[in-house]
Amino acid sequence: MTSEIGFDFLFLRPPSPSHIYPTIRKFVQSVITRFVTFVFRPTFMKTIAVLTSGGDSPGMNACLRAVVRTAIHEGLNVYGVRYGYDGLMNGDFLKMDARSVANIIHRGGTILKTARSKKFLTLEGRQQAKEQLEKFGIEGVVAIGGDGTFRGAVALSEICTIPFVGCPGTIDNDLVGTDFTIGYDTAINTVIEAVDKIRDTAESHNRLFIVEVMGRDAGLIALYSGIGSGAEGILIPETKNDLEVLLARLGERQREKHSRIIIVAEGDEAGGAFAVEKAVKEKFPEFDIRVSILGHIQRGGSPTCMERVNASRMGYAAVGALLSGKSHVMIGIVDRKIKFTPFKDAIKHLEEPDPLLMKMVDILAR
Ligand code: F6P
Repeated sequence: MTSEIGFDFLFLRPPSPSHIYPTIRKFVQSVITRFVTFVFRPTFMKTIAVLTSGGDSPGMNACLRAVVRTAIHEGLNVYGVRYGYDGLMNGDFLKMDARSVANIIHRGGTILKTARSKKFLTLEGRQQAKEQLEKFGIEGVVAIGGDGTFRGAVALSEICTIPFVGCPGTIDNDLVGTDFTIGYDTAINTVIEAVDKIRDTAESHNRLFIVEVMGRDAGLIALYSGIGSGAEGILIPETKNDLEVLLARLGERQREKHSRIIIVAEGDEAGGAFAVEKAVKEKFPEFDIRVSILGHIQRGGSPTCMERVNASRMGYAAVGALLSGKSHVMIGIVDRKIKFTPFKDAIKHLEEPDPLLMKMVDILAR
């Protein structure tokens, strides 16, 4: 911190040249960057479209609101595309104004609706989408969705040069280039609220509950909600021997506990909550076990404050990215700062979570 000029000034020390030069260089670089961005800004861009695609997630509406209102502030026309890529192919476009996104920041789901489009996977489907984009004079698209959405945008780019910028909307938090995806924070809070309730009944009956959570082939919903709900075991697809670890742990601590909560990610290699129940029952027939599969409750509900703020920041940044000529990048937030990641890198699967977290789960679940 002492290299900051302002800090030296507070101590009434004259800044030395070695302190000044990097600061001047940084300042000059930032002026040049702003100038270049302004001059080369695609001034032709007058009309953009925004869509939500794939599984819905809480916070998509907050992101959509930010996109629409930022675009209007920048003097752009904005179309909302209903039903994701299906709507893109069918020309289901709605002209949006600032009021079209009023009173939605707190609502789960997506007012634009969404779909998992099979036809868009075909060249014919994408050709149709290209024609609709051209018909409506669209010069840039903000796509809010997960890896399937970004894969779709990459496939479309083979036949269409219209820039796409993505905002990561999925409860799974399985994209590279952002600390949190839109929907994840709300989903894990929904899970812990449910598990807190399950814990009451588990404790009353001395039962072991196996709770299955979503996440497709990623385990981050299970990992965070498991830690947040004080689970005794967390089974995730990223680590391969969770079931054996769990069985060993249950054996060690058999007589000490009355109730137990085990969180299983739906994509875990053990095969889901019922398969885990079978394995536990075989080894510990004396346990009174119940299974609870939380399901789509995890996708709904009013987004948390963190979700609304992140979604608003990402939507705002997405319009700025299109205007500054960026294309085929996903907006993310890393260490509280906006970051751009090419779609092809964002959809690479996340690696194994920090092993220290798994160790911590073991230590804290005594
Ligand atoms: O990707 C989000 C997600 O909720 C996954 O966690 C889950 O596996 C999947 O979508 C469920 O998809 P659908 O709503 O199509 O059943």
